[in-house]
Amino acid sequence: MNTIVYKVDPVYPESEKIEQSAIILKRGGLVAFPTETVYGLGADTFNAEAVRRIFKVKQRPIDNPLIVHISSLQEVNKVAYDVPNIAFELMESFFPGPLTLILPRKELVPPEVSAFLPTIALRMPAHRIAIELIKALGSPIAAPSANRSTKVSPVTAEHVLDDLNGEIEAILDGGKTPLGIDSTVVNVLSDPPVILRPGFITYEELKEIIPGVVEFNYSQISDSDFKPVAPGMKYRHYAPQVPMHMFLGEKPYVWEEILKNKILKSEKSVKVGVAISKEGFIYLNQPPDSFSLGSYNDLTEVASRLYLTLREMEKVYDIILIEGCEEKGVGRALMNRLKKASTSIKVV
Ligand code: TXA
Ligand code: MG
Repeated sequence: MNTIVYKVDPVYPESEKIEQSAIILKRGGLVAFPTETVYGLGADTFNAEAVRRIFKVKQRPIDNPLIVHISSLQEVNKVAYDVPNIAFELMESFFPGPLTLILPRKELVPPEVSAFLPTIALRMPAHRIAIELIKALGSPIAAPSANRSTKVSPVTAEHVLDDLNGEIEAILDGGKTPLGIDSTVVNVLSDPPVILRPGFITYEELKEIIPGVVEFNYSQISDSDFKPVAPGMKYRHYAPQVPMHMFLGEKPYVWEEILKNKILKSEKSVKVGVAISKEGFIYLNQPPDSFSLGSYNDLTEVASRLYLTLREMEKVYDIILIEGCEEKGVGRALMNRLKKASTSIKVV
């Protein structure tokens, strides 16, 4: 199959390219599209066969459910029912935006979408191309991130092509996604509500609307005793194709430790790449094979560069050494991804 790439203006998407893509979706095809977080791999939510193909091309485990993307609040009732008030409050504050809510699934929605769970994950992306595509299809779009399973989520159309070229009908190339990290997932059906996946909408922000909200306690689960409350969690995720070692601790010792390890490992003739904060990069005098992720005082910038940097580095290096960050605000989301992707974690 030849994957068509439509270059699209992210602010004023050309309607004929959107229409063409909607026709592909209506016929049961798969179209990758940008959102404000990462690229999604979309299918018509109500076409079970197309939804099954998403799992196949991504090589995604069948028990890991997808997110349903809507373009307006009127569509909530097409896919969910018994929506709790707290969910509407969250929608009012954060839709459209990088927040996904778990709600009871309407029977009309093929169970494949949510891996046969009675619930559904719902979000309204803050990206013109995504919104116009959903409108043109006239129905919500089911989409996971458009990477091959376990790999780093794609933030450019090139990343999608690297993983899925020839296996999907089309890509809407709207350039790099602005936020660069996958949405926050909140289960509003549990008491208290739980953050299943931290993201750009932070724990601190959510607490202002749901004071009782709690974070999912990852340390309490292991692969073997995992219960399917949040199926995505048990798998290795967001990982570059080469081993990645994370370093945590006080500055500047953590930077010195990274440099020491780089030199040690390079002696064994492995190609070692370093991903480090801007401050560390400057402190170490911009060493070769090093990439600045941005200032540790501006984790929004770090988030927007992280996946892009990892996808570049995995092509060139045998090993990646990376600096961790403080687990507050967006830092919780960053550390959640880094922990899942790292081969080892060293506290300096
Ligand atoms: O930013 C994003 O969320 C991107 C863009 C494309 O919207 N999508 C994305 O999808 O990251 P995906 O499939 O890579 O991650 C969806 C997450 C998974 O961790 C999945 O387990 C969880 O949402 N999820 C989906 N449906 C669920 C459900 N019914 N109950 C609990 N967790 C669910
Ligand atoms: Mg994903």
